[in-house]
Amino acid sequence: MRATFLALPLFASLMMTACHSDTDATTAPAAAPAKAAAPAAPVDEHSYAEPNKVAVSNLALDLSLDFDKKTLSGTATLDLDWKDKAAKALTLDTRDLTIDKVEGADGKGGWAPLTFQLAAADPILGSKLTIDTPARNPEVRITYSTSPTASGLQWLEPSMTEGKSLPFMFSQSQQIHARSWVPLQDTPSVRYTYTAHVTSRPDVMVLMSADNDPNAVRDGDYSFKMPQKIPSYLMAIAAGDLVFKSISPRSGVWAEPAMVDKAVAEFSDTEKMIATAESLYGPYRWDRYDLLVLPPSFPYGGMENPRLTFATPTVIVGDKSLVSLVAHELAHSWSGNLVTFSSAKDAWLNEGITTYVEGRITEALYGKDVADMEKVIGRNEMKKEFAEIDPKYQVLAEKPGTLKDPDDNSSATVYTKGAWFMQFLEERYGRDKFDPFLRGYFDHFAFQSIDSQQFAKYAKANLLAKYPGVVTQAEFDAWLYEPGIPPTAPQVKARRFGVVDSARLAWLGTHQLPPEALTKDWTTQEWVHFIESLPETLSQEQLAQLDGAYHFTGTPNGEIAQRWYPLAVRNGYTQANDAIAAFLERVGRRKLIMPTYNALVQTEAGLALAKQVFEKAKPGYHPITTGSVQKVIDEAKPKPATAPAATPAAAPAAPATATTPAAPAAPAK
Ligand code: BES
Ligand code: ZN
Repeated sequence: MRATFLALPLFASLMMTACHSDTDATTAPAAAPAKAAAPAAPVDEHSYAEPNKVAVSNLALDLSLDFDKKTLSGTATLDLDWKDKAAKALTLDTRDLTIDKVEGADGKGGWAPLTFQLAAADPILGSKLTIDTPARNPEVRITYSTSPTASGLQWLEPSMTEGKSLPFMFSQSQQIHARSWVPLQDTPSVRYTYTAHVTSRPDVMVLMSADNDPNAVRDGDYSFKMPQKIPSYLMAIAAGDLVFKSISPRSGVWAEPAMVDKAVAEFSDTEKMIATAESLYGPYRWDRYDLLVLPPSFPYGGMENPRLTFATPTVIVGDKSLVSLVAHELAHSWSGNLVTFSSAKDAWLNEGITTYVEGRITEALYGKDVADMEKVIGRNEMKKEFAEIDPKYQVLAEKPGTLKDPDDNSSATVYTKGAWFMQFLEERYGRDKFDPFLRGYFDHFAFQSIDSQQFAKYAKANLLAKYPGVVTQAEFDAWLYEPGIPPTAPQVKARRFGVVDSARLAWLGTHQLPPEALTKDWTTQEWVHFIESLPETLSQEQLAQLDGAYHFTGTPNGEIAQRWYPLAVRNGYTQANDAIAAFLERVGRRKLIMPTYNALVQTEAGLALAKQVFEKAKPGYHPITTGSVQKVIDEAKPKPATAPAATPAAAPAAPATATTPAAPAAPAK
């Protein structure tokens, strides 16, 4: 059993209004005479870089990693491709960096100092670094160091690791946190190759999103090369007590020694996943595919850093039930890393197409039933989210100006609606036509960064016009440019949820839990669906009955905890409080813990508990998680606690059988 849970970044609450009304406003501006085939870089509102004037083509890092000071320091040397022959400055993105000096190469082996200005920091974008380059140097070298509070790095004391003996550090650059550890053009519209030389204390292993050597010797001196052009959000580094174990000749796991065997067992289907994706979408083009298992403070489930997916340990639950995370991150090797969105407003090109491909891999390996359950869970979440968010965040091809902070994309839109769009096209054209189309799309735009309009143009030529009469222009455009769920959306039913719905309704009506024979084979998805479809209000007796039978409180499964604890909190089921506190202190993955924080801050007592837990947990949280929790606490408007419901609140349900899928119970308001 496998589960995919999509509610990723929190949708924004404070947003600027869109400043363009024309859907073509996002097309690339007329650029300097671009080289044939290479699309002109569109403007990215979340970067100070001016890639139409000058683009970084290679980055060479020479860094020293200091666990005591919690800094990376050294030099970043940028190779520059000057497009505007009259340009006089290079503007870069930085956040909380100390810039010691900047030098320019004369092209003959010499280096001379360059003047520069570091602007005041914008809270979201950081500080613009303007380097005066009247000679348009072929290379610029920046000597700098990071801040111990860099938003894209986390430094962990040994006590926060599995082995407790060595410190750990890791990066998380997406969306715009690479600028907190490297001065660069921090926009996905720019792609470059990189090399790195990193020194550290000799007892830790250092890894990057590059050519990690499975046989590397731990000596504190490491060199890396990433020969394919990548966007900045895929820059990654990690260091700690890391050992390698192989899964197949081209894939394996890096993890702390105590985790590595468990991780290899959990992720043992990785090679099959690669082979499945290759059979659908063409060769894997990144050489090795390894996974790095991080400590539980990693703020995401996974991150598709090229050649080295970063993964949360919370998916290692012993039964492979959450490994569609690997399918997802692997799928990004095509949708995202190979063909990349050129700015965050087209995030669906990465996450939506990836979620679709993830579903195809899941279906091929584990069957249609499993893939369907994941779709239904995602779409139920999406319907809830769409009932609440501003329609402008429900549009796949977002208008410029919609997103103030690129971390605030609606996950329902970019993941679920994006994947649903792909499923719509697949069903209309059939896999025999749609699969080669998608493969052709990856080949056509390989190693390029594109926007929704480029996707649309390609799809129109290679689907709509090629096979006329299947999908109209208006139907296609509604998916890309309209809010909400288009009327053409294909329906999905999960066969295995019929049994779950029947069991839930029967229990609500009769207080009789389903027989063990029925639930013993339930997977994470079925439990998730069972909990998610419960009424919002349950009595203490009902909660205690479920807990007694299924031990939800204290569950090691974060996907279940993520749904059970908010229900417990909303219903004043305080006997879960200790387990809630332990969960929030142990796990830093935003998606898993934010629903519980959101539920806690609704009441005064809950807010007090949230604050108390946050104080204890904060030193172990990643800056991204700290920011999210702090915001929820700061913006809380708690109501005084009401007495928990004493009697069952749900109306008696109609009897249902396992063969007639019942409608989900309407949540009690
Ligand atoms: N690229 C994302 C993670 C991300 C997105 C980081 C946006 C920062 C901003 C990654 O591929 C992802 O989607 N991770 C999911 C897991 C997945 C199985 C849906 C996550 O972390 O929950
Ligand atoms: Zn993703």
